[in-house]
Amino acid sequence: MPQPTLKTARIELVPLADEHLELEIELDSDPEVMRYLDKGARSRAATEEAHLRRRRAAEKVPGLGFWVGFVDGDFIGWWILQPPHGPDQPEVEGEAELGYRLLRRHWRLGYASEGSRELLRYGFTELGLSRIFAQTLAINEPSRATMTSAGLTFARAFDSSESFPGAEHGEVEYELTRETYLSQR
Ligand SMILES: CC(C)(COP(=O)(O)OP(=O)(O)OC[C@H]1O[C@@H](n2cnc3c(N)ncnc32)[C@H](O)[C@@H]1OP(=O)(O)O)[C@@H](O)C(=O)NCCC(=O)NCCS
Repeated sequence: MPQPTLKTARIELVPLADEHLELEIELDSDPEVMRYLDKGARSRAATEEAHLRRRRAAEKVPGLGFWVGFVDGDFIGWWILQPPHGPDQPEVEGEAELGYRLLRRHWRLGYASEGSRELLRYGFTELGLSRIFAQTLAINEPSRATMTSAGLTFARAFDSSESFPGAEHGEVEYELTRETYLSQR
């Protein structure tokens, strides 16, 4: 099953494609957006590389990947629901990582949590995932608040394998299982 286009009350979530590269460059070039994610604003070349990684994420498990969000045709940011990857994410079948990154002018309008709730619905009810988790630096309060707002709960704290500023405080993982999700509906 390829990634579908998804819709919430306000957001259209479109599978990431090469035509979205310039939007990713706009997002990753803002140092405030990248504050807890890297060593600062990303260069065009670094975002081009990231774009290729993001596109490849969609090839591993049918239906998972990156989605680009639009409100009334305006790009607001992206969301992920992707297979576990990297040193801090054991590769367990049936699990996926949730994530989000929004343009600063669209923060605090409820968009990150609104898009996340749709990806949780899609992941559990359409893909049949067993667990969805999200990870962030312990000091990334907006991201932690978004996880909670979307319905995830704290699962663990762990030492970060990242080396950028803030990583020394460690990372946290939040989670929602399919069982809990379905029992709450
Ligand atoms: C994290 C991010 C996506 C949140 O986006 P957003 O659209 O502003 O989030 P929402 O408006 O949906 O808010 C979700 C919850 O977080 C809270 N929140 C958002 N920003 C916050 C902040 N700066 N401080 C405290 N709480 C905050 C909201 O009040 C809301 O909680 P509530 O439902 O209890 O009211 C956005 O800040 C961002 O893009 N940050 C940079 C990229 C990043 O760090 N991504 C996460 C990487 S793991």
